[in-house]
Amino acid sequence: MIKKISTSELRVGMYVHDLACGWLQHPFAVSTFAVKDAQTIQKIASAGIRELFIDTDKGRDVEDVVVPEPANDASVPDRPAPTSAADEGARAAVLFREATSVIKNMMEDARMGKQVDVQCLNPMAERMVQSTFRNPHALSGITRIKTKDEYTFMHCVSVAGLMTTFAIEMGLDDETVHQVAVGGMVHDIGKTLVPDEVLNKPGKLEGDEFVVMKRHVDFSGELLKEHLGLSQAAIDVTMMHHERMDGSGYPLGLKGDQISLIGQMAAIVDVYDALTSVRVYKDAWEPSITLKKLLEWSPHHFNRDLVQRFIKCLGIYPLSSLVELESGRVGIVLEQGADMLRPRLRIVYDAKRKCYARVTEIDLARDRQDRIVTARSPKDFGIDMAVFL
Ligand SMILES: [Fe+2]
Repeated sequence: MIKKISTSELRVGMYVHDLACGWLQHPFAVSTFAVKDAQTIQKIASAGIRELFIDTDKGRDVEDVVVPEPANDASVPDRPAPTSAADEGARAAVLFREATSVIKNMMEDARMGKQVDVQCLNPMAERMVQSTFRNPHALSGITRIKTKDEYTFMHCVSVAGLMTTFAIEMGLDDETVHQVAVGGMVHDIGKTLVPDEVLNKPGKLEGDEFVVMKRHVDFSGELLKEHLGLSQAAIDVTMMHHERMDGSGYPLGLKGDQISLIGQMAAIVDVYDALTSVRVYKDAWEPSITLKKLLEWSPHHFNRDLVQRFIKCLGIYPLSSLVELESGRVGIVLEQGADMLRPRLRIVYDAKRKCYARVTEIDLARDRQDRIVTARSPKDFGIDMAVFL
């Protein structure tokens, strides 16, 4: 029997028939599933879902629940206390800079033929994981601070941060989450062996140059092959991030399921980060426009379900992106709530009057008078985002 219950009545062993909201409003890939742990209940409650439907033929009924849940479920690992995007953002910015410097040194060592020490990345990976547990948007938002000059190193750190966020959203186990962070940090290490004139060419790569650039994946494999301790997850991020679902990728031209789940996730993250970065030959794309493009390019290039999960974990309007409201106010996304379409914003510009606005913060989840009409590029208004972030 299908029964409507309040989220406070939901218990492990029940079967969710419908979360009674659109897929954008809840954090799960599907709306029908068995509740296997207390974390799932917590996730539903924190998404702001107050009521839902259960199927009592497939799981426990409200009346079946006689034994109270233990207060401390030993199966749920300890998690750091949640923090706001603003608090975590400051910590994530320090972490981002430190990790960039570690990667830079590692790549320079590799270029000079020195042994690459992957173990030294473990503390960085752990800090990324802890940061993402404290706030799932802070580190992925910080990844927008990349500069042209340090792109190669910063891209590695960004991919690590985004992979961590994505892996947690996918419910992967803690060890795998840690390993995809390590994988992200080393995923382009082979670029250190690509000649500078190709790597930093201020324009589109031509035939032979592209062939050389593509070899960076094999170079990464060579540099890391001595590391017997490197996990399969980290290897998949490194060796599969340029593979595509239709077989058009490289180095092996793998297709569909030949690419592991981690490899398919890494392909999405790598392209998202590359497009949203400013490069010597192009401006940065807006995050929400990039997410739409990723959906367009699936299923040929990417797994469509995974792209949708990635969008859900970043939000339709990712942290630090610029949006225009119906009122003409233009603001920067500061924090995501349960409703991705109504984040908290810092208003910086007035598109109707074409001038800077008094800087104020509004929470669209509470202020229901206004709504986002579109994502905008800072270039549209000549806004220097660095001043306001
Ligand atoms: Fe790459």
